[in-house]
Amino acid sequence: MDSIFKKSDMYTINNYKRFKVAFERGKGMYLYSYEGKEYLDFLAGIAVNILGHSHEVVVNAIKEQAEKLLHVSNLYYIKEQADLAELLVKHSCCDRAFFCNSGAEANETALKIARKWGYDRGKYKVLSFKNSFHGRTIATLALTGQTKYQEGFGPFPDGFDYVEFNNSEDFIKKADDKTAAVFVEFIQGEGGINVADKSFIEEIYEFCKANNILFIADEIQTGMGRTGKLFAYEFYDVEPDIVTLAKGIAAGLSMGAVLAKEYVANVLGFGSHGSTFGGNPFASFVACKVFNFVLNNGLIDHAKHMGDYLLEKLREVSKGSDKIAKVEGLGLMVGIKFKDKGIADEIVKKALDSNILVGKAGDRTVRLEPPLIVEKDHIDKIVEFFRCNI
Ligand SMILES: Cc1ncc(COP(=O)(O)O)c(C=O)c1O
Repeated sequence: MDSIFKKSDMYTINNYKRFKVAFERGKGMYLYSYEGKEYLDFLAGIAVNILGHSHEVVVNAIKEQAEKLLHVSNLYYIKEQADLAELLVKHSCCDRAFFCNSGAEANETALKIARKWGYDRGKYKVLSFKNSFHGRTIATLALTGQTKYQEGFGPFPDGFDYVEFNNSEDFIKKADDKTAAVFVEFIQGEGGINVADKSFIEEIYEFCKANNILFIADEIQTGMGRTGKLFAYEFYDVEPDIVTLAKGIAAGLSMGAVLAKEYVANVLGFGSHGSTFGGNPFASFVACKVFNFVLNNGLIDHAKHMGDYLLEKLREVSKGSDKIAKVEGLGLMVGIKFKDKGIADEIVKKALDSNILVGKAGDRTVRLEPPLIVEKDHIDKIVEFFRCNI
C-alpha cells in the first residue's frame, strides 16, 4: 500500500488527513484493504453506502443503465429523473424535485431558492445553528455555524446568522422581518451527533409559519432511512418547505436533491438555476432502484430496530465507563460522546487497528453510521470493541 500512499501524497491536494489504509473492494458490511485485511464498516463512507458494498441491486442497476445511457444533459426530458422525482415527491411532504451532485450543491440550490423567494418579499437573511454543517462552498460555509471551517475563506456573502441549537428563544430573538429562511439539521452530524428536541423544532416551525420564514430541512445526512424514518422530519410535527438530500440517495454514486413545496419551487423559473450532470439517467436510475429496494424490503424499520439495539447496548457499556458523557442518536446515526477531548481520536485509531471503521464528529464524539443492512451480530462485535476499549 506504500506506493498508493506515496503517489496520493505527491499528486493530490493535501486537504484530507487520511488514515493509512486503502481499500480494494467491499462486500456487504465489510471492506478489504490492498493488504487483504477485512474491515467491519460502521461508517458507510460517511453515511453514504446505505446498502453496504457491492450490493447486487446497486451493481445490477449500474450495469443495466451503463449499457443504455449515462448522460444527455437537462436540455432534454429524462425518464429516469422523472421517475425518481415522482418517487421522492410521493414519499415526502414536497411537490417538486431538483437534482444535483452533492450535499453542498443541494444546500446552495436551497439557498438560491430562499434568496429568490425572499427577494420578492424584501427578505434576505438566513439563519442556521451553531455547530451545524451544511457544506464547503463559500455560501454553504457561510451557512455552516462553525468558525473552524470558515477561517481564511472570507469575506462571505452577507445575511447569515447563527442561533444556539435547541434554544427556540435565541431563534425568536435573532429572527426579524428580513429573515427569509432557516436551515435545520434534525441531528447535527458533523457537529457531534446532537439530536434536536421535539419542542424546540416545533416551536421554531410554528414561529416560521407565523412569520413567513422558510423552514428548510438539511436531511443530507439524516435522510434516506438512516434515522429509522425515511426523513428525520417525520419524528417532528412539521412539514418543511424545502428538504435537501445527498449522501445515501444513490447508495454510493454522486447525487444531491432538493425537494420543495410548490409555492417555493416555482420561484426558480426557466434558466434561473441548473446543473450539467444533475439528475442524469445513470445516477437517477440507480437511485430509483435503491429507493424501491429500501422501501420494499422493510429496511427503514430494520434501521430503527438495529438502531434501538445499538443504542441500548452502547448505553449498557457507557454505564460502566467514567469517560463517556452520553450516548445519543436516532436509528443508525449514533454518537458516543466523551467527556474529554482527544479520546474520540484515540478510539477511532484503535478501532482501525482492530479492523473496525468508525468516525469522529465534533471534537469529542465517536460516530457510528453503518449501512442500513447491518445485523445484530455486527452490532455485537462493535459493542464488544467498545466494552474492551473504554
Ligand atoms: C448535514 C450535511 N449537509 C451538507 C453536507 C455537505 O455534503 P457534501 O459533502 O456532499 O457536499 C454534509 C456532509 O457531511 C452534511 O452532513
